Amino acid sequence: MTNARPNLYLMGEHEPVARELEASELKVKGTIPRELEGAFLRASPNPQFPPEGRYHWFDGDGMVHGLRFRDGKAGYLNKWIRTEGFEAERAAGKPLWTGIMEPVKANGLKDTANTDLVFHDGKLLALWWMCGTPYQLDPRTLATLGPERFGGKLVRSMSAHAKVDPRTGELVFFDYSIVRKPWMRYGVVSRTGELLRDEVIELPTPHIQHDIAITERYSILMDLPLGWDQALLAQGKRRIGFDKDSPARFGIIPRLGTNAEVRWFEAKSCYMYHTINAYEAGDEVVLVGCRVGDPIPKDQRTDGKVARLEFIELVPHLYRWRFNLETGAVHEEQLDDVATEFPRVNDALAGTKARYSYNPRVAPRPDLMFDGLVKYDLEQKTSTTYAYAKGWFGSEAVFTARPGGTSEDDGWLVTCLTNAAEQRSVGIVLDARDLEAGPVATVELPQRIPIGFHTCWVP
Ligand SMILES: [Fe+2]
Repeated sequence: MTNARPNLYLMGEHEPVARELEASELKVKGTIPRELEGAFLRASPNPQFPPEGRYHWFDGDGMVHGLRFRDGKAGYLNKWIRTEGFEAERAAGKPLWTGIMEPVKANGLKDTANTDLVFHDGKLLALWWMCGTPYQLDPRTLATLGPERFGGKLVRSMSAHAKVDPRTGELVFFDYSIVRKPWMRYGVVSRTGELLRDEVIELPTPHIQHDIAITERYSILMDLPLGWDQALLAQGKRRIGFDKDSPARFGIIPRLGTNAEVRWFEAKSCYMYHTINAYEAGDEVVLVGCRVGDPIPKDQRTDGKVARLEFIELVPHLYRWRFNLETGAVHEEQLDDVATEFPRVNDALAGTKARYSYNPRVAPRPDLMFDGLVKYDLEQKTSTTYAYAKGWFGSEAVFTARPGGTSEDDGWLVTCLTNAAEQRSVGIVLDARDLEAGPVATVELPQRIPIGFHTCWVP
């Protein structure tokens, strides 16, 4: 089957790159702070061959783009993540898999490890949103070192968005499946890479989940009512279904708890790709995230101003839930009406109360693109925004602290922007205390790079 119409996620700002490059001493406008030392890494979907059949943004082979900073200078490199599927297709010289928009094939879906990057126990892991084997990458060369199964003990697989607890060094993860039981697992890996937990979590229905959150003592599992239409799936067809009559369920489990210890709380029906952070406050567990009220596209919206991921409409808003462990009460509240996604906080505060969240702003376009970066002050309920210049779009930004920094936002935000018309990409460094001042440094990349998924800072 050929693509009948142009696919927004294969063109313009999303167009894949064909080359793996390495460059040093990139041209810089402004000044890279000398204390900024480390690497900004971003996972992107980047199919190595023209996809067979209908392509979804989430299908592409994983590629990592890296921007390295040292001594006030910056370098760049990019490499594909060489998963088993990538190598098999490379050997065959053509695609062997189709994506999630196509009917189910016997070989399933290709684990691309394309979604998320986590730095844990000195290892850089690439993770996949449909749950796969974590792939270990060399954080300096971005070479794929191979699957990481934690001494062979990982029972099944790991979803994207495993969380590192900055206090204990533990890696907290979940695993889900919408085609074979169990529908969910929950796990913890110690600071030194020992698998401490890999627990079956009982769910009534298979759902697609994307994230997890941690507090100092608990983890929050999500059971949100989005999944494949099961009747169609039995016929080998994939179509997304959202059950707006079912509640959103949040399961709070002690860090090293068991399925029997999960306390499920029900909230208004919704979907959510990304949590921002969670923390404990007295009897309550508080969760902040980017909530989508109804992810199924409305046919009447034909103005092209609402972002879609083919089958899902993406109008997420900053939102807060409070789950009372004593009374069982749930309080929920929308905190802003601007659509933002791919949020990050200062990672040192993961699991504790963070004041600031840094959220890319969803652009009024039919594909998912970000036209600015919003800094939310969750205490003061205010925000400041750095809007990108016309024609420039970005994705997730990562916060990195200034050595000896004195406040939560004392550091820099690093991200990459792309301009399709000019066929250019840049890396930008913003002072996180003052977004509105614009970048303190803008680094010219040696090639245009596509809009990507998640980012990671490696010191
Ligand atoms: Fe994600």
